[in-house]
This record gives sequence, C-alpha cells and structure tokens, in this order.
Amino acid sequence: MEVISPQVYNNCYIQEELMDISSGPCSSSINGITSSTGKPPAKYSDPSTIEPPASLHELIARLHEVFESDDISVEYVQKLMTSYKSNRKEWKKYAKFDQFRYTRNLIDAGNGKFNLMILCWNEGQGSSIHSHANSHCFLKVIDGKVKEELFEWPDSEGTMKKCAENEYDKDQCAYINDSLGLHRVENVSHINKAVTLHLYSPPFDVCQCFDERTGKAVTSKVTFWSKYGRRTPFGRNPDEAGCCVIENN
Ligand SMILES: [Fe+2]
Repeated sequence: MEVISPQVYNNCYIQEELMDISSGPCSSSINGITSSTGKPPAKYSDPSTIEPPASLHELIARLHEVFESDDISVEYVQKLMTSYKSNRKEWKKYAKFDQFRYTRNLIDAGNGKFNLMILCWNEGQGSSIHSHANSHCFLKVIDGKVKEELFEWPDSEGTMKKCAENEYDKDQCAYINDSLGLHRVENVSHINKAVTLHLYSPPFDVCQCFDERTGKAVTSKVTFWSKYGRRTPFGRNPDEAGCCVIENN
C-alpha cells in the first residue's frame, strides 16, 4: 500500500479560497424526504415495492435503472440502498484504507447521473463539516458504524449551530442535501474500522468545507484514492495549480 506522509498532505491540501456562505435551514430529521425535483416514474417511487438486491452488482444495476430518470424519489433510493445486505466479499476489492485520512474509492460512475463510491475510515478518522454541491447524498454503512453531526449553515456572525447527531450501524442508510444543512461524518471507534457506500447525484468534484469556530468555508476539490479498485495517481495536478484543496465527502 502506498503510504502518504502527513507532510505531503500539508503541502498539497492547501486551503485556497475563503468564502462567506449564507445561512439556511437545517432539519433535525433526514428520513422520509422526497425529492422536490418532480415526479419519479411510478415504477421507482413506491419503496414498498422494493425487492432487496441480491448483491452489490445487482444494486448497481438497479440504481442505473432508477437514475435513468432525472426525477428520483429520495425515499425509494434510500430504501433500495438500505435493503442491500452488505457482503464484504463483494466490495473488499474497493476498500482501500490510508494511514492518515479516510479514502474515497469510486466503484461506479452511474452513466454520468451519479457517482457510487466506498469510503474507508480507519479508527478515529472523520471528515470536515461540508456541503454537497446541491447534490443528493446517500450514505450507507457497509461495515462498522459512523457518527453524523448535522449543522445549520453558518449565520451572518459565522456561528455554526449543531442541530442533530445520528449514529448509523451496518446496513443503515442516511441522506442529506444542502437544503437540510451540513454534516460531519466520523468513525468514532478506536478499535474498529468503518466502511460506507456513498451515492452522489449529480456527481460533483467541488464542495465547501467549514471551520466550526468561524463559519468560514473553503472551496475544496474532492478526489478519489482509487477508481474501480486501482490506485489513482497521487500528487498535484499541474492543470489545477492553485486549486489544491482536497477534501473527502
Ligand atoms: Fe457528506
């Protein structure tokens, strides 16, 4: 496994742009929300009709069908992802851990409609507080457990208010989008790793990360530690000089 030193991270993961973010609502509940983008096809709108996918491969195939439409039912997708029973043999080839920070590992690009990825959290690793670029974000635990802290968007004074805290166990699936607020995800265990399966629709490669004390945000580029089970090249991309904040979400 390639080991990346903290110094390399300090050099490469430079905060590049300070921005003020206007305040917005924060929901204390993230369950049972339906997309307001329109009416999804009837076939993929009623969660009670879902047959659990027999494998990760089948889950991916079903997600492709659902996302053929631009109008999705959040509740349907959340239930579909919840109903997949995690099987380590099916995803272990994508699960790449890093000594110093959690990793994002792409497993399917969803015909451009979504990105499906596996995030690997060593003991104690966590994300910053971040937004989701106006995308839908589904987070399913496939090993271990994670804690999610939900925050309101910072107010004009820069105050960040934590409004909820949730813990998700194996096979549970969380959902968030920017209208619900911001969140921070963490594997709080000091003895167990955690692995989570994330779906983002539409895909995005930039988000905002927030300083809890000041409410200031930085624009961060999100990257993949691996794609389709293979390590991605690491280092500063010369095409992106000056844009080298890297954050996972
Ligand atoms: Fe997130």
